[in-house]
Amino acid sequence: MSDLKNDRFLRALLRQPVDATPVWVMRQAGRYLPEYRARREQAGDFMSLCQNPQGACEVTLQPLERFDLDAAILFSDILTIPDAMGMGLYFDQGEGPKFRKAIETAKDIEDLPIVNTASDLPYVPDAIRLIRRELNGRVPLIGFSGSPWTLATYMIEGGSSKDFAKIKTMAYSNPDLMAVLLEKLTLSVIDYLNTQIAAGAQAVQIFDTWGGVLSTSAYQEFSLKYMAQIVAGLNTHSEGREVPVILFTKGGGGWLEAISVTGCHAIGLDWTQDIGQARGRVGDRVALQGNMDPAILRAPASVIEAEVGVILASYGKGAGHVFNLGHGVTPDIDPERVSAFVDAVHNYSVNFH
Ligand code: CP3
Repeated sequence: MSDLKNDRFLRALLRQPVDATPVWVMRQAGRYLPEYRARREQAGDFMSLCQNPQGACEVTLQPLERFDLDAAILFSDILTIPDAMGMGLYFDQGEGPKFRKAIETAKDIEDLPIVNTASDLPYVPDAIRLIRRELNGRVPLIGFSGSPWTLATYMIEGGSSKDFAKIKTMAYSNPDLMAVLLEKLTLSVIDYLNTQIAAGAQAVQIFDTWGGVLSTSAYQEFSLKYMAQIVAGLNTHSEGREVPVILFTKGGGGWLEAISVTGCHAIGLDWTQDIGQARGRVGDRVALQGNMDPAILRAPASVIEAEVGVILASYGKGAGHVFNLGHGVTPDIDPERVSAFVDAVHNYSVNFH
């Protein structure tokens, strides 16, 4: 049962046959698009845009007007969860995220509430319902969340970090306290993603942007364990279809086997791995999403097209590949290059199906 006009993306995530490799772009709605910058200006700032379902809907659809993308992704941010926990998220123009109320003590962590999405973050399911209506079955809509570990890095460091000194101090010196925070985040993320699915998200991705800064055993203990709990807690059946779950750990290439047995449907790969070798390692357990270096979008179209060909050939024939960048598109990229990228994936990939 499906009113979807293009379900390539969902089919590929479930390793079902497709006519061409589906493609979307992490951060496809954002500052590299002049129409996004204009809409953000009108809204005042980034968070006001996220919190306004009409604005979030418009911006979600902007890249689909320009490019032949096979999926839309909800316009929002992973840090809505710490914001809803009372930390007061804000963004100074041109700077990373900051919080008005930092977490400094064990009591701060013990006092943190578990998020109830329906009452604390109603603008997220509201935006999803509106986007689904506007999409009218054109392509599927992706919902998302940060991983507990990645959310905790921002909460403990107070923003972006280079060395993760504070959170690593806590993880190694006080693992029990670290676990209290990660468990609260896990329950919050389960509620958040289940509410997104109930509102109409047709696939979900967990962004573990900072899992790759951990050692193998610490990744297992502080990040993967909680992502596996989330996968187990999701209602992955909705509207008569499976709702695929994608786990993306940037820098997680060494741990693909472990990630592939969490119950997720697909693994997001950054560009440091060869996707054909990755396919050999995960076998037919999961689909793979990725993995062109976003920096290649700064090169001429001919270079982008050649690299798309290399990645398609490395993955090889058959289903189970969703094309993407290995991380988000950056604000300096010319949208014409994204167009060349998306079209190259569709044009070249027909030979592999
Ligand atoms: O992919 C999409 O198009 C959907 C929207 C989306 C945003 N953030 C919009 C955004 C998604 C999926 C995210 C996820 C996110 N947010 C992650 C994980 C993905 C990743 O890139 O690793 C992280 C770590 C964040 C936290 C965050 N939000 C940071 C560190 C920043 C500032 C740095 C930056 O890239 O500007 C943001 C702000 C943010 N989130 C912007 C957008 C479009 C820019 C805000 C602006 O308009 O000024």
